[in-house]
Amino acid sequence: MMKRYEDMHKKLLAWYEEVGRHELPWRNTQDVYHVYLSEIMLQQTQVNRVRDEYYPRFLEKFPSLEALADAPLEDVLSLWSGLGYYRRAKNLHKTAQLTRTGLPKSVQELKELPGIGAYTASAVCSFGYAQNVPVVDTNIARVLKRYFALVNPKERELWKFAQKFLNSTDPRHHNLALMDLGSMVCIPKNPECQVCPLALECQGKGEPELYTQVKKKESVAMDLFFGVMIQDGKIALKYSDENMYKDMLVLPNVEPLEERLIGSYKHAYTKYRLSVYLYEVEELSEEVVWVDLERFDTLPISSLTKKAQRYFRV
Ligand code: ADE
Repeated sequence: MMKRYEDMHKKLLAWYEEVGRHELPWRNTQDVYHVYLSEIMLQQTQVNRVRDEYYPRFLEKFPSLEALADAPLEDVLSLWSGLGYYRRAKNLHKTAQLTRTGLPKSVQELKELPGIGAYTASAVCSFGYAQNVPVVDTNIARVLKRYFALVNPKERELWKFAQKFLNSTDPRHHNLALMDLGSMVCIPKNPECQVCPLALECQGKGEPELYTQVKKKESVAMDLFFGVMIQDGKIALKYSDENMYKDMLVLPNVEPLEERLIGSYKHAYTKYRLSVYLYEVEELSEEVVWVDLERFDTLPISSLTKKAQRYFRV
């Protein structure tokens, strides 16, 4: 172990001990499946929503990798309903079927599984198996860029610095500490350098924003026109033909017909800013599935479609 970071390592762990988010359930488990599940859910979803709703609910229904592997995809997608990025749920299911009795124990092997990239593989090995491996997510990347004053580093370079800065005496807590530091102190705008345990040797302290220019994400505005057809307490839905919602149930598309408009709302999803218009229709040209309105909440339906519910007239 290199001596040169010893002081910083100690300060970082002491800071984590004091203010880190120790109570997060996936940080208090020996079950690697639980760790893996949390990491997939936490990609693009806020910690609180995962902790309070989706994570406990999912584990109650699928307590093990095998239970998940044996479930129909539709049940997995239903539990994912509202979380977005449904491909995550499909990859989770596939991975469970490929591994069944236990996840592999190396970054290399984990990366070969669907939906597991460099970050997830290293997170599973670090947080799940307590292996001596570096972890780089967006929060840790920001800390490293500032600490080492790296302007627009390549991904590979960031991992090299993460490896260099790794604390081999307690790599698991070291990585968790870096993650919390990035999300609580070394935040994108106006970082709180005065309380940062690494401030003494941070090379980016004078101009933290130099190292973390935020790219403005382009967004795309789009209008969507959906048909609402309800008969005998059942509604017509279809399996989406869009990649983004593959295997999910959505409302059928229609041509807009002003006098049939029953409601409209906005929905933001990935880069799309959607304006949704709902029309009452009496016939549909697409192949549909008739679904009991009472079962609406138990089906693989995204938030985009769920929001339409309040306009339904039964
Ligand atoms: N703890 C472990 N992994 C985490 C993550 N991805 N986000 C927040 N807390 C975590």
